[in-house]
Amino acid sequence: MAFWKKKPAGEAREVDFSRLPDHVAIIMDGNGRWAKKRGLPRTAGHAAGAEAFRTIAYYCRDIGIPYLTVYAFSTENWRRPQEEVSAIMGLLKNYLLEVLEKMERDGFRVHFFGDLSVLSPDLRDLCLRSMERSKQVPPGHQVNICLNYGGRDELIRAVKAWQADCQAGKADPADLTEEVLSGYLDSAGIPDPDLVIRPSGELRLSNFLPWQSAYAEFWFSDVLWPDFTPEVLNQAIADFQTRDRRFGGV
Ligand code: IPE
Ligand code: IPE
Ligand code: MG
Repeated sequence: MAFWKKKPAGEAREVDFSRLPDHVAIIMDGNGRWAKKRGLPRTAGHAAGAEAFRTIAYYCRDIGIPYLTVYAFSTENWRRPQEEVSAIMGLLKNYLLEVLEKMERDGFRVHFFGDLSVLSPDLRDLCLRSMERSKQVPPGHQVNICLNYGGRDELIRAVKAWQADCQAGKADPADLTEEVLSGYLDSAGIPDPDLVIRPSGELRLSNFLPWQSAYAEFWFSDVLWPDFTPEVLNQAIADFQTRDRRFGGV
């Protein structure tokens, strides 16, 4: 679209619901600052962030976005105080218990990106059970939760798994392509994100989907994650719809 036909910045654009992105990925950031602004403990920010996540997940399902990927806990987030880590893990457990109860009714598939092996056995079990149960839900709306996820860690795990397959004669080192390596990532079989959103004012990826985001469109906002609403997502999608994605072509 010619630049003079684009609406000026600041004016709300309309979403074209007939051509939504297939895959939206969100770095759910800003919970701590949201709590601090209110004089609350950081853990209260994570609880509010979990509510924002529920709202956005249902909204994506309702408007028909096939894949939503959210960054819930990074490989670096273990550096936080033990109490905060436990609170985040507790919120995740509650959410997964809820998912297991209502998954078929709500029509979501749940999947995880990240190294689940170091999680507590009960949380890991909930993750595995949610993924197993998802197979019974018809495809259409999938939420990928990045939990103990780091893009660099994902690549190392993928290369190690590929190496093991090479040694077992199941893969050939001479045939390594982008497609082959993609098949070993946590996101195997899932299309790359079209739109990556980071709220909270930070302008960085923080190890989120570096391989998969190679050609994603990025959208940043100062809104803190607990304040993120479907209206904010609509702004991001409307902006995304004005972008000219060339993928290296002309
Ligand atoms: C994101 O919010 C949640 C996690 C990283 C688990 P933060 O906790 O990073 O919030 P800020 O960035 O400190 O405000
Ligand atoms: C990224 O946010 C991780 C999640 C939102 C889960 P962080 O708050 O951990 O990122 P940095 O430390 O600001 O880069
Ligand atoms: Mg943060």
